[in-house]
Amino acid sequence: KENPTSLIVIFGATGDLAKRKLYPSIYRLYKNGSISKNFAVVGVARRPLTNEEFRSNVSKSVSSVANGDGNVEEFSSHFYYHPFDVTSSESYQQLKGLLGDLDSDYETNGNRIFYLAMAPEFFGTIATNLKSEGLTETDGWKRLVIEKPFGHNLPSAKDLNAEIRQAFDESEIYRIDHYLGKEMVQNIEVIRFANALFEPLWNNRYISNIQITSSEVLGVEDRGRYYENSGALRDMVQNHMLQMVALLAMEPPIKLNPEEIRSEKVKVLRAMRKIEQDDVEDYFVRGQYGAGFVDGDQVQGYREGNSVDPNSNTETYVAGKLLIDNFRWAGVPIYIRTGKRMSEKSTKIIVQFKDIPMNLYYNRGEKVDPNLLVINIQPEEGITLHLNAKKSGKDVTTTPIKLDYTNNCIDGINTPEAYERLIYDAMRGDMTNFTHWDEVALSWSFIDEISKAWENTRAFDFPNYESGSMGPKQADGLLEKDGFHWWPL
Ligand code: BG6
Repeated sequence: KENPTSLIVIFGATGDLAKRKLYPSIYRLYKNGSISKNFAVVGVARRPLTNEEFRSNVSKSVSSVANGDGNVEEFSSHFYYHPFDVTSSESYQQLKGLLGDLDSDYETNGNRIFYLAMAPEFFGTIATNLKSEGLTETDGWKRLVIEKPFGHNLPSAKDLNAEIRQAFDESEIYRIDHYLGKEMVQNIEVIRFANALFEPLWNNRYISNIQITSSEVLGVEDRGRYYENSGALRDMVQNHMLQMVALLAMEPPIKLNPEEIRSEKVKVLRAMRKIEQDDVEDYFVRGQYGAGFVDGDQVQGYREGNSVDPNSNTETYVAGKLLIDNFRWAGVPIYIRTGKRMSEKSTKIIVQFKDIPMNLYYNRGEKVDPNLLVINIQPEEGITLHLNAKKSGKDVTTTPIKLDYTNNCIDGINTPEAYERLIYDAMRGDMTNFTHWDEVALSWSFIDEISKAWENTRAFDFPNYESGSMGPKQADGLLEKDGFHWWPL
């Protein structure tokens, strides 16, 4: 199959995401020959910059991945800058002219990706103008890649969706959830469906509970303005955490195509038990970090951060218990937790299997640990199986053992960045690892009840966890009620 060729128009070209993730990822695709030489990138943003200035910024942002390779200038020469006012039709007309010229210069067959990586309040306006000013009329294909947040709740997500759907068909909309680009998140499907060992046990007869943790060491840093209106629930749970839940809990799809996979994921989200506002306390715990120590350094609490209300009610930590009401999962709690300024950066899924029917070693005073399947998403990538075996020696006593597989030890290379895969997929037209509107809508309708409950009641105990800790104590209570505990990471 030929490598894809396209123009990529990046709105928000001077922003952090473009610099940190998008340019380096496009560079890697270029370097390893995954995209054809027939491509050009048009950077769009408000700031006035010349092509030369823009190219030198791009070169700088790829320098660390280029590792001294001599092709950076050649790469940056594919980049063009268009200073732009989101609301002026003249700006769109000029951009249209530029795209027309580049289409023929680079022989990109009229293929266009419009990548929205700027402040979400402009997503709708841009999409509308792209259509009304004729930029979406092209001989090739057109695709809209759209960053989070996709709305702020269900009503605003619906509005945004209606706006973008006027200009793009659902099959042309690539909603980014960068967790779906992660190697080990994509591996969930393979571990489940390519092994005879797990799938027969993957249900409420053999699994007692599942724990998904995504902890971060960094605080909110300079994103206070965004975060104050978001909080951990919208920032991490609505998207990344629920996507992981859907992949873990879905039925085997009939085929591995985007439609079949998405439709199985949607079913999981539909079966997820809605939590009424009055019951939120029984199922969810919120937290906000106070001051503390990270790597031996004293750090400030969330409320002391820039652009943060000194009395902020915003949560920087969420733990919750989810229930999926279907035949496979009835009665199996899925616990999730995510937070900022925790003791380590780690994303892990732990599947805890039920106890053996009878412990033959019990009379000897031996407790046998349950089997765990740990899927390490990051920073380590791999899987670990916790089993029990005989302790070597004369006596037959048990000891816990671990079977470990670490991706990077075997392959010896760094797996590609999530964004590298996602940009590549968008260019190839593979929508599997992007979120369908139905998934977005269902996740918001689940999340909205919880955020309403939290907006309506002040968290008087905030801040309730120290920076550098594993979150508020109440999160332990959530599992203890059910006779479980969080497994250490
Ligand atoms: C983003 C959130 O979607 O995901 C950030 O907006 C968060 O707040 C980030 O830090 C975490 O991503 P990763 O890949 O570092 O786990």
